[in-house]
Amino acid sequence: MKIAVLPGDGIGPEIVAQAVKVLEALRSDGLKIEMEHAHIGGAGYDAAKDPLPEATLKLSKESDAVLLGAVGGYQYDNLPRPMRPEQGLLRIRKGLGLFANLRPAMVYPELVNASTLRSDIVSGLDIMILRELTGDIYFGQPRGIRTLDNGERQGFDTMHYSESEIRRVAHVGFQIAMKRNKKLCSVDKANVLDTSMFWREIVTEVAKEYPQVETSHMYVDNAAMQLVRAPKQFDVILTGNIFGDILSDEASMLTGSIGMLPSASLDSNNKGLYEPCHGSAPDIAGKDMANPLATILSVAMMMQYTFARPDLSQRIEGAVRKVLQQGLRTGDIYEDGKQKVGCAAMGDAVVASL
Ligand code: IPM
Ligand code: MG
Repeated sequence: MKIAVLPGDGIGPEIVAQAVKVLEALRSDGLKIEMEHAHIGGAGYDAAKDPLPEATLKLSKESDAVLLGAVGGYQYDNLPRPMRPEQGLLRIRKGLGLFANLRPAMVYPELVNASTLRSDIVSGLDIMILRELTGDIYFGQPRGIRTLDNGERQGFDTMHYSESEIRRVAHVGFQIAMKRNKKLCSVDKANVLDTSMFWREIVTEVAKEYPQVETSHMYVDNAAMQLVRAPKQFDVILTGNIFGDILSDEASMLTGSIGMLPSASLDSNNKGLYEPCHGSAPDIAGKDMANPLATILSVAMMMQYTFARPDLSQRIEGAVRKVLQQGLRTGDIYEDGKQKVGCAAMGDAVVASL
Protein backbone atom coordinates (compact mmCIF):
# COMPACT_ATOMS: atom_id res chain seq x y z
CA MET A 1 0.00 0.00 0.00
CA LYS A 2 1.77 3.10 -1.23
CA ILE A 3 0.24 6.19 0.34
CA ALA A 4 1.06 9.83 -0.39
CA VAL A 5 0.58 11.91 2.76
CA LEU A 6 -0.28 15.58 2.16
CA PRO A 7 -0.93 17.34 5.50
CA GLY A 8 -1.51 20.80 3.99
CA ASP A 9 -2.30 23.80 6.18
CA GLY A 10 -3.88 24.87 9.46
CA ILE A 11 -4.95 21.88 11.51
CA GLY A 12 -3.97 19.61 8.58
CA PRO A 13 -0.59 18.52 9.98
CA GLU A 14 -1.95 17.66 13.46
CA ILE A 15 -4.97 15.67 12.28
CA VAL A 16 -2.96 13.85 9.62
CA ALA A 17 -0.35 12.96 12.25
CA GLN A 18 -3.08 11.07 14.15
CA ALA A 19 -4.18 9.20 11.03
CA VAL A 20 -0.54 8.33 10.32
CA LYS A 21 -0.32 6.83 13.83
CA VAL A 22 -3.25 4.59 12.92
CA LEU A 23 -1.51 3.51 9.69
CA GLU A 24 1.68 2.86 11.63
CA ALA A 25 -0.22 0.70 14.09
CA LEU A 26 -1.58 -1.34 11.18
CA ARG A 27 1.92 -1.59 9.77
CA SER A 28 3.31 -2.94 13.01
CA ASP A 29 0.65 -5.63 12.66
CA GLY A 30 2.40 -6.76 9.49
CA LEU A 31 0.63 -4.73 6.82
CA LYS A 32 2.95 -3.48 4.09
CA ILE A 33 2.38 0.25 4.15
CA GLU A 34 4.70 2.78 2.57
CA MET A 35 4.13 6.47 3.28
CA GLU A 36 5.74 9.53 1.76
CA HIS A 37 4.94 13.13 2.69
CA ALA A 38 4.59 16.09 0.31
CA HIS A 39 3.29 19.68 0.33
CA ILE A 40 -0.04 20.97 -0.88
CA GLY A 41 -2.03 24.20 -0.54
CA GLY A 42 -0.37 27.06 1.33
CA ALA A 43 2.39 24.67 2.39
CA GLY A 44 3.03 24.00 -1.31
CA TYR A 45 3.16 27.73 -1.97
CA ASP A 46 5.62 28.24 0.90
CA ALA A 47 7.85 25.38 -0.23
CA ALA A 48 7.71 25.76 -4.02
CA LYS A 49 5.59 28.84 -4.86
CA ASP A 50 2.86 26.50 -6.13
CA PRO A 51 -0.23 25.17 -4.26
CA LEU A 52 0.28 21.88 -6.11
CA PRO A 53 4.03 21.47 -6.64
CA GLU A 54 4.99 19.15 -9.49
CA ALA A 55 6.67 16.74 -7.07
CA THR A 56 3.41 16.43 -5.12
CA LEU A 57 1.35 15.57 -8.20
CA LYS A 58 4.01 13.11 -9.34
CA LEU A 59 4.13 11.37 -5.95
CA SER A 60 0.32 11.25 -5.85
CA LYS A 61 0.15 9.73 -9.33
CA GLU A 62 2.67 7.06 -8.34
CA SER A 63 0.82 6.19 -5.13
CA ASP A 64 -2.23 3.94 -4.69
CA ALA A 65 -3.93 6.41 -2.41
CA VAL A 66 -3.53 9.94 -1.12
CA LEU A 67 -4.22 11.03 2.46
CA LEU A 68 -4.88 14.76 2.65
CA GLY A 69 -5.40 17.03 5.65
CA ALA A 70 -6.81 20.42 4.68
CA VAL A 71 -5.73 23.53 2.80
CA GLY A 72 -6.07 27.26 3.37
CA GLY A 73 -4.95 29.98 5.78
CA TYR A 74 -5.40 33.70 6.34
CA GLN A 75 -1.87 34.47 5.14
CA TYR A 76 -2.75 33.19 1.67
CA ASP A 77 -6.06 35.04 1.26
CA ASN A 78 -4.63 37.87 -0.80
CA LEU A 79 -2.54 35.83 -3.22
CA PRO A 80 -3.55 35.87 -6.89
CA ARG A 81 -6.08 33.13 -7.62
CA PRO A 82 -3.73 30.56 -9.26
CA MET A 83 -1.53 30.62 -6.15
CA ARG A 84 -4.35 30.17 -3.64
CA PRO A 85 -4.43 26.97 -1.57
CA GLU A 86 -7.86 25.85 -2.91
CA GLN A 87 -6.36 25.67 -6.39
CA GLY A 88 -4.07 22.91 -5.13
CA LEU A 89 -7.10 20.92 -4.11
CA LEU A 90 -9.02 21.50 -7.35
CA ARG A 91 -5.97 20.70 -9.46
CA ILE A 92 -5.13 17.45 -7.67
CA ARG A 93 -8.76 16.27 -8.06
CA LYS A 94 -8.66 17.07 -11.77
CA GLY A 95 -5.09 15.86 -12.24
CA LEU A 96 -5.85 12.45 -10.76
CA GLY A 97 -9.25 12.16 -12.47
CA LEU A 98 -11.08 11.81 -9.13
CA PHE A 99 -14.60 12.28 -10.44
CA ALA A 100 -16.55 10.42 -7.75
CA ASN A 101 -16.63 12.09 -4.34
CA LEU A 102 -18.23 10.05 -1.57
CA ARG A 103 -19.34 12.00 1.48
CA PRO A 104 -21.13 9.86 4.03
CA ALA A 105 -23.19 11.56 6.71
CA MET A 106 -23.95 9.26 9.57
CA VAL A 107 -24.95 9.87 13.13
CA TYR A 108 -23.16 7.90 15.82
CA PRO A 109 -25.56 6.98 18.62
CA GLU A 110 -23.00 8.39 21.10
CA LEU A 111 -23.20 11.81 19.43
CA VAL A 112 -26.90 12.12 18.73
CA ASN A 113 -27.16 15.06 21.13
CA ALA A 114 -24.36 16.94 19.38
CA SER A 115 -26.64 17.72 16.44
CA THR A 116 -28.53 21.00 16.35
CA LEU A 117 -31.52 19.01 15.11
CA ARG A 118 -33.88 17.03 17.36
CA SER A 119 -32.55 13.57 18.05
CA ASP A 120 -35.67 11.86 16.64
CA ILE A 121 -34.95 13.57 13.30
CA VAL A 122 -31.31 12.46 13.09
CA SER A 123 -30.83 9.33 15.20
CA GLY A 124 -29.90 6.40 13.02
CA LEU A 125 -29.18 8.65 10.05
CA ASP A 126 -26.95 7.11 7.37
CA ILE A 127 -26.74 8.96 4.05
CA MET A 128 -24.17 8.73 1.30
CA ILE A 129 -23.76 11.84 -0.81
CA LEU A 130 -22.08 11.16 -4.12
CA ARG A 131 -20.83 14.40 -5.59
CA GLU A 132 -19.40 14.61 -9.11
CA LEU A 133 -16.02 16.26 -8.58
CA THR A 134 -14.22 17.14 -11.82
CA GLY A 135 -16.87 18.87 -13.94
CA ASP A 136 -19.70 21.39 -13.72
CA ILE A 137 -19.36 25.12 -13.17
CA TYR A 138 -16.22 24.43 -11.10
CA PHE A 139 -14.18 23.68 -14.20
CA GLY A 140 -16.32 24.98 -17.10
CA GLN A 141 -14.77 27.37 -19.60
CA PRO A 142 -15.02 30.18 -20.44
CA ARG A 143 -15.00 32.01 -17.15
CA GLY A 144 -13.68 35.27 -15.91
CA ILE A 145 -14.48 38.94 -15.56
CA ARG A 146 -15.11 40.85 -18.79
CA THR A 147 -16.15 44.29 -19.92
CA LEU A 148 -19.36 44.46 -21.91
CA ASP A 149 -19.98 46.71 -24.92
CA ASN A 150 -21.76 49.21 -22.70
CA GLY A 151 -18.62 49.45 -20.56
CA GLU A 152 -20.05 47.57 -17.59
CA ARG A 153 -17.95 44.80 -16.06
CA GLN A 154 -19.42 41.32 -15.69
CA GLY A 155 -18.35 38.17 -13.91
CA PHE A 156 -19.19 34.87 -15.62
CA ASP A 157 -18.75 31.11 -15.30
CA THR A 158 -19.89 28.22 -17.47
CA MET A 159 -21.90 25.24 -16.27
CA HIS A 160 -21.81 22.13 -18.41
CA TYR A 161 -21.88 18.36 -18.11
CA SER A 162 -21.07 15.96 -20.92
CA GLU A 163 -22.92 12.69 -21.30
CA SER A 164 -19.90 10.56 -20.38
CA GLU A 165 -19.30 12.59 -17.23
CA ILE A 166 -22.88 12.07 -16.07
CA ARG A 167 -22.95 8.40 -17.03
CA ARG A 168 -19.82 7.36 -15.18
CA VAL A 169 -20.75 9.06 -11.91
CA ALA A 170 -24.33 7.76 -12.18
CA HIS A 171 -23.01 4.20 -12.49
CA VAL A 172 -20.92 4.70 -9.35
CA GLY A 173 -24.04 6.00 -7.59
CA PHE A 174 -26.20 3.04 -8.53
CA GLN A 175 -23.45 0.58 -7.62
CA ILE A 176 -23.17 2.18 -4.19
CA ALA A 177 -26.95 2.08 -3.81
CA MET A 178 -26.94 -1.64 -4.65
CA LYS A 179 -24.63 -2.25 -1.67
CA ARG A 180 -26.81 -0.13 0.62
CA ASN A 181 -30.58 0.29 0.87
CA LYS A 182 -31.11 0.41 -2.91
CA LYS A 183 -32.50 3.93 -2.96
CA LEU A 184 -31.01 6.71 -5.02
CA CYS A 185 -32.16 10.31 -5.25
CA SER A 186 -30.63 12.36 -8.06
CA VAL A 187 -30.56 16.07 -7.24
CA ASP A 188 -30.62 18.75 -9.94
CA LYS A 189 -32.28 22.00 -10.96
CA ALA A 190 -34.00 20.64 -14.09
CA ASN A 191 -36.85 23.14 -13.81
CA VAL A 192 -34.44 25.95 -14.69
CA LEU A 193 -31.08 24.72 -16.03
CA ASP A 194 -30.50 22.95 -19.35
CA THR A 195 -27.43 21.24 -17.86
CA SER A 196 -29.72 19.76 -15.20
CA MET A 197 -32.38 18.74 -17.70
CA PHE A 198 -29.71 16.76 -19.54
CA TRP A 199 -28.37 15.37 -16.25
CA ARG A 200 -31.83 14.04 -15.39
CA GLU A 201 -32.27 12.50 -18.85
CA ILE A 202 -28.99 10.57 -18.62
CA VAL A 203 -29.49 9.48 -14.99
CA THR A 204 -32.94 8.18 -15.96
CA GLU A 205 -31.34 6.13 -18.75
CA VAL A 206 -28.64 4.69 -16.49
CA ALA A 207 -31.30 3.86 -13.88
CA LYS A 208 -32.84 1.35 -16.30
CA GLU A 209 -29.74 -0.80 -15.86
CA TYR A 210 -30.41 -0.99 -12.11
CA PRO A 211 -34.06 -2.00 -11.83
CA GLN A 212 -33.68 -3.07 -8.18
CA VAL A 213 -32.79 0.49 -7.19
CA GLU A 214 -35.66 2.80 -6.36
CA THR A 215 -34.72 5.99 -8.21
CA SER A 216 -36.12 9.45 -7.62
CA HIS A 217 -35.28 12.99 -8.77
CA MET A 218 -35.43 16.12 -6.66
CA TYR A 219 -34.77 19.80 -7.27
CA VAL A 220 -31.84 21.07 -5.26
CA ASP A 221 -33.82 23.69 -3.34
CA ASN A 222 -36.30 21.06 -2.21
CA ALA A 223 -33.44 18.68 -1.35
CA ALA A 224 -31.87 21.36 0.85
CA MET A 225 -35.16 21.64 2.70
CA GLN A 226 -35.83 17.89 2.92
CA LEU A 227 -32.35 17.34 4.37
CA VAL A 228 -33.30 19.25 7.50
CA ARG A 229 -37.00 18.31 7.50
CA ALA A 230 -36.74 14.54 7.16
CA PRO A 231 -33.17 13.49 6.36
CA LYS A 232 -33.79 9.79 6.94
CA GLN A 233 -35.79 9.58 3.69
CA PHE A 234 -32.44 9.55 1.82
CA ASP A 235 -30.07 6.67 1.18
CA VAL A 236 -27.78 7.70 -1.70
CA ILE A 237 -27.90 11.25 -3.02
CA LEU A 238 -26.33 11.63 -6.47
CA THR A 239 -25.56 15.15 -7.60
CA GLY A 240 -23.25 17.46 -9.52
CA ASN A 241 -20.21 19.31 -8.28
CA ILE A 242 -21.65 22.59 -7.01
CA PHE A 243 -24.91 21.22 -5.59
CA GLY A 244 -22.89 18.47 -3.89
CA ASP A 245 -20.54 21.01 -2.38
CA ILE A 246 -23.44 22.82 -0.74
CA LEU A 247 -25.59 19.84 0.26
CA SER A 248 -22.68 17.94 1.78
CA ASP A 249 -21.88 20.81 4.15
CA GLU A 250 -25.54 20.97 5.09
CA ALA A 251 -25.70 17.21 5.66
CA SER A 252 -22.58 17.26 7.80
CA MET A 253 -24.33 19.36 10.41
CA LEU A 254 -27.08 16.76 10.79
CA THR A 255 -24.42 14.58 12.36
CA GLY A 256 -23.41 17.07 15.02
CA SER A 257 -19.97 18.02 13.82
CA ILE A 258 -18.25 18.33 10.50
CA GLY A 259 -15.24 17.15 12.52
CA MET A 260 -16.55 13.58 12.26
CA LEU A 261 -17.01 13.28 8.50
CA PRO A 262 -14.57 11.54 6.18
CA SER A 263 -14.59 11.56 2.39
CA ALA A 264 -13.24 9.58 -0.53
CA SER A 265 -12.61 10.85 -4.05
CA LEU A 266 -12.15 8.04 -6.54
CA ASP A 267 -11.06 7.61 -10.12
CA SER A 268 -12.35 4.82 -12.37
CA ASN A 269 -9.82 2.33 -10.93
CA ASN A 270 -10.57 2.99 -7.27
CA LYS A 271 -7.43 4.95 -6.77
CA GLY A 272 -8.45 7.53 -4.24
CA LEU A 273 -7.81 10.69 -2.34
CA TYR A 274 -9.06 10.59 1.25
CA GLU A 275 -9.65 13.70 3.30
CA PRO A 276 -11.88 14.99 6.07
CA CYS A 277 -14.87 17.03 4.83
CA HIS A 278 -13.89 19.97 7.03
CA GLY A 279 -11.40 22.72 6.29
CA SER A 280 -8.11 23.87 7.77
CA ALA A 281 -9.62 25.77 10.77
CA PRO A 282 -6.72 28.24 11.06
CA ASP A 283 -8.22 29.71 14.24
CA ILE A 284 -7.45 26.55 16.22
CA ALA A 285 -4.38 25.38 14.28
CA GLY A 286 -1.42 24.27 16.37
CA LYS A 287 -3.45 24.30 19.60
CA ASP A 288 -4.04 20.55 19.85
CA MET A 289 -7.81 21.16 19.80
CA ALA A 290 -8.86 19.75 16.44
CA ASN A 291 -10.91 16.59 16.05
CA PRO A 292 -8.80 14.00 14.20
CA LEU A 293 -11.65 11.48 13.83
CA ALA A 294 -12.75 12.59 10.34
CA THR A 295 -9.21 12.04 9.09
CA ILE A 296 -8.90 8.69 10.86
CA LEU A 297 -12.26 7.65 9.40
CA SER A 298 -10.92 8.71 5.99
CA VAL A 299 -8.24 6.05 6.43
CA ALA A 300 -11.07 3.57 7.11
CA MET A 301 -12.63 4.58 3.78
CA MET A 302 -9.24 4.15 2.10
CA MET A 303 -9.03 0.57 3.37
CA GLN A 304 -12.51 -0.13 2.06
CA TYR A 305 -12.44 1.53 -1.36
CA THR A 306 -8.83 1.56 -2.60
CA PHE A 307 -7.42 -1.47 -0.83
CA ALA A 308 -10.59 -3.60 -0.72
CA ARG A 309 -10.00 -4.46 2.95
CA PRO A 310 -13.40 -3.96 4.58
CA ASP A 311 -12.07 -5.90 7.59
CA LEU A 312 -9.50 -3.17 8.29
CA SER A 313 -12.03 -0.47 7.59
CA GLN A 314 -14.38 -1.96 10.18
CA ARG A 315 -11.54 -2.33 12.64
CA ILE A 316 -10.74 1.38 12.43
CA GLU A 317 -14.40 2.38 12.65
CA GLY A 318 -14.81 0.06 15.63
CA ALA A 319 -11.85 1.71 17.35
CA VAL A 320 -13.42 5.14 16.83
CA ARG A 321 -16.75 3.92 18.19
CA LYS A 322 -14.99 2.56 21.23
CA VAL A 323 -13.29 5.83 22.17
CA LEU A 324 -16.64 7.60 21.81
CA GLN A 325 -18.21 4.99 24.06
CA GLN A 326 -15.40 5.57 26.55
CA GLY A 327 -16.61 9.17 26.70
CA LEU A 328 -13.64 10.86 25.04
CA ARG A 329 -14.55 14.07 23.19
CA THR A 330 -12.71 16.84 21.41
CA GLY A 331 -14.16 20.34 21.89
CA ASP A 332 -16.42 20.27 18.81
CA ILE A 333 -18.38 17.24 20.10
CA TYR A 334 -18.02 17.86 23.82
CA GLU A 335 -21.02 17.71 26.15
CA ASP A 336 -21.29 17.83 29.94
CA GLY A 337 -20.13 14.73 31.75
CA LYS A 338 -17.73 13.66 29.01
CA GLN A 339 -13.96 13.77 29.05
CA LYS A 340 -12.51 16.57 26.97
CA VAL A 341 -9.30 15.59 25.17
CA GLY A 342 -6.98 17.17 22.62
CA CYS A 343 -6.19 16.07 19.11
CA ALA A 344 -3.12 13.96 19.96
CA ALA A 345 -4.78 12.26 22.96
CA MET A 346 -7.75 11.36 20.77
CA GLY A 347 -5.38 9.86 18.20
CA ASP A 348 -3.57 7.87 20.90
CA ALA A 349 -6.87 6.58 22.27
CA VAL A 350 -7.94 5.33 18.83
CA VAL A 351 -4.59 3.59 18.36
CA ALA A 352 -4.94 1.99 21.81
CA SER A 353 -8.41 0.70 21.09
CA LEU A 354 -7.33 -0.50 17.64
C1 IPM B 1 -14.94 21.10 -0.48
C2 IPM B 1 -14.44 22.51 -0.42
C3 IPM B 1 -13.76 22.85 -1.74
C4 IPM B 1 -14.81 22.74 -2.83
C5 IPM B 1 -13.07 24.22 -1.78
C6 IPM B 1 -12.09 24.39 -0.65
C7 IPM B 1 -12.38 24.46 -3.10
O1 IPM B 1 -15.47 23.39 -0.11
O2 IPM B 1 -14.12 20.18 -0.63
O3 IPM B 1 -16.16 20.91 -0.37
O4 IPM B 1 -15.54 23.69 -3.09
O5 IPM B 1 -14.88 21.66 -3.44
MG1 MG C 1 -17.29 22.45 0.34
